[in-house]
Amino acid sequence: MNTLSIDRLSLVYPKGTRALDCISLHIENGMFGLLGPNGAGKSSLMKILATLQQPTDGRVLYNGTNIVRDSAGIKKKLGFLPQDFGVYPRVSAYNLLQHLAILKGVCDAQERKRQICGLLEKVNLTSFKNKDVYTFSGGMKQRFGVAQALLGRPEILIVDEPTAGLDPEERNRFNALLSDISEEMIVILSTHLVEDVRNLCSQVAIIDKGRLIGSGKPSEMISALKGKVWTKKIDKKLLSEYEHNYPVISCRYIERALHITTFGNRPPEGFSPVKPTLEHVYFRALKEPHTL
Ligand SMILES: Nc1ncnc2c1ncn2[C@@H]1O[C@H](COP(=O)(O)OP(=O)(O)O)[C@@H](O)[C@H]1O
Ligand SMILES: [Mg+2]
Repeated sequence: MNTLSIDRLSLVYPKGTRALDCISLHIENGMFGLLGPNGAGKSSLMKILATLQQPTDGRVLYNGTNIVRDSAGIKKKLGFLPQDFGVYPRVSAYNLLQHLAILKGVCDAQERKRQICGLLEKVNLTSFKNKDVYTFSGGMKQRFGVAQALLGRPEILIVDEPTAGLDPEERNRFNALLSDISEEMIVILSTHLVEDVRNLCSQVAIIDKGRLIGSGKPSEMISALKGKVWTKKIDKKLLSEYEHNYPVISCRYIERALHITTFGNRPPEGFSPVKPTLEHVYFRALKEPHTL
């Protein structure tokens, strides 16, 4: 069993932004979700894990080895699909993988061919292998991104907001691919989409403003809110009054009527119970961070 252990990790950017503030996490095989709104620090954390950024404080151990001290060693074991992996040259999928495989140190030509063909098959791009990558759709580009990340047979795959901008069908197909891959290795997925975490991840960490504000198994985090989530259809003019009186964790229009959700051990006047979801867990954590 491979383990990635993040220990009191902090990152302060040169102009003083504290992007990560004393984050500790323990990650094992399977899919790990890193959930947080924009600016939470997800990409900063992933760049440190990919050894592209040095932390200000704290350390990360992979199977006991400090990844900052041995960044060359960890790079070989790691595949990374960055958030802004956008610009592709005018070159075919096969040739680009060939080029990237050489950069990754897959020196043996037979082995390189075997890996590239296997990966194109895995990400369902075999029939497009001679097409230029820049002509691919968003979903195809992201699947190509996974193929390049898996060159060199890494043990950890890090994917940063991979489904942003994909249409629902592409997103489903991409998520199925990740789910398949996570049976064999550690996959760390960052996203602001609660639904992706719910569908895919066996463990989740919720971060906001650089801090860890919740973590655990999604199903257990949801169970902990059982009998504590309440909803009511209200007149939208009264929203600020409700927000003043109750911890409102979400507001949603259903057929043009405003429904608000709150939590607490007892239902407030006129509210009815709702089955908790991971979205409730997430919005509650953002509202009342239990800094860990
Ligand atoms: N290279 C950088 N230099 C300075 N500040 C940065 C840099 N990258 C990110 N930040 C800041 O760090 C915080 C976390 O950003 P980021 O890690 O990109 O969050 P996320 O990926 O969750 O949206 C934000 O306040 C962002 O503006
Ligand atoms: Mg990001």
